[in-house]
Amino acid sequence: MKRPKITIVGGGNVGATAAHWAAQKEIGDIVLVDIIEGMPQGKALDLMQTGPVEGFDTRIIGTNSYEETANSDVVVITSGLARKPGMSREDLLAKNKEIITSVTTEIVKRSPKSTLIIVTNPLDTMAYLAKKISGFSKNRVIGMAGVLDRARFRSFIATELNCSVEDVQAFVLGGHGDEMVPLPRYSTVAGIPLPELMSPEKIDRIVERTRKGGGEIVALLKTGSAYYCPSAAAVQMVEAILLDKKRILPCSAYLQGEYGLSDMYFGVPVKLGSDGVEEIIEVKLTPEEKAALEKSAATVRKSILELGL
Ligand SMILES: NC(=O)c1ccc[n+]([C@@H]2O[C@H](COP(=O)([O-])OP(=O)(O)OC[C@H]3O[C@@H](n4cnc5c(N)ncnc54)[C@H](O)[C@@H]3O)[C@@H](O)[C@H]2O)c1
Repeated sequence: MKRPKITIVGGGNVGATAAHWAAQKEIGDIVLVDIIEGMPQGKALDLMQTGPVEGFDTRIIGTNSYEETANSDVVVITSGLARKPGMSREDLLAKNKEIITSVTTEIVKRSPKSTLIIVTNPLDTMAYLAKKISGFSKNRVIGMAGVLDRARFRSFIATELNCSVEDVQAFVLGGHGDEMVPLPRYSTVAGIPLPELMSPEKIDRIVERTRKGGGEIVALLKTGSAYYCPSAAAVQMVEAILLDKKRILPCSAYLQGEYGLSDMYFGVPVKLGSDGVEEIIEVKLTPEEKAALEKSAATVRKSILELGL
């Protein structure tokens, strides 16, 4: 049986670190693509030479061309500008629109049966663009955001309660922006609903920190944005697809009426397996939660309109 093939476009912080996590997991061979001459080749060689130390046999190729990407099973797209202090994700739209358009065109020519995982920001808008450009069915173009946002929420909860992150489950809905909607009611610690373990004030503080979690790291790094958790989150999605795990993960998916929203990408819980998004799960929301979701949706809709498609 042949090994699955994973292409990662963009060999910068998120892309190269995704290659690192994926190589260690041995879930497929990896092709790392970037426009900077020599950079993906150098990183791929370095990573492959780590195999003997870490004990993995993953084959990794670095390249500036798309020939080596042919017949990929999953393609993770991370190419594009990242935020600097003072920038919003929306400030990246014009330049990243160009990059996602050209990259998606090249990828679909050679890997018409692949599943695309979009990471580039503004996330929901770039996922929408990639779906339009690729012409792929909605289940095979997925945005990565919720797994990251949820991980931030989970780690803040665990730190506050001084308990293991493994026992914390958390629920995040909505667009990948400061208006995302973390839902404490659906978040639990070993099955115990969060509101039973923490005061409303503490929960509010953690929710706010989760929403601004990306910006907090941008302000600290000063030269770019987060990449360890974003790349690990993308690889968790790759793994769910390649191993047909049917994980229930929050992902940016194309909506056609779910949550009362249509013709847009938005963060919702999905079942992720070998067919990509195999199901979108809808949960009941309170009027306040619905209002917060609508606010987040309005921001994403405005951004999608700016694509001018
Ligand atoms: N969805 C999320 O939750 C999330 C989280 C973190 C970062 N991001 C986004 O991911 C993107 C990448 O972030 P990063 O930190 O890796 O940035 P980075 O600057 O470290 O890497 C981006 C890479 O893309 C490459 N690139 C540019 N144009 C290209 C093209 N046409 N073809 C191939 N490669 C190209 C660049 O050369 C660079 O190496 C940004 O848009 C960032 O905002 C999203």
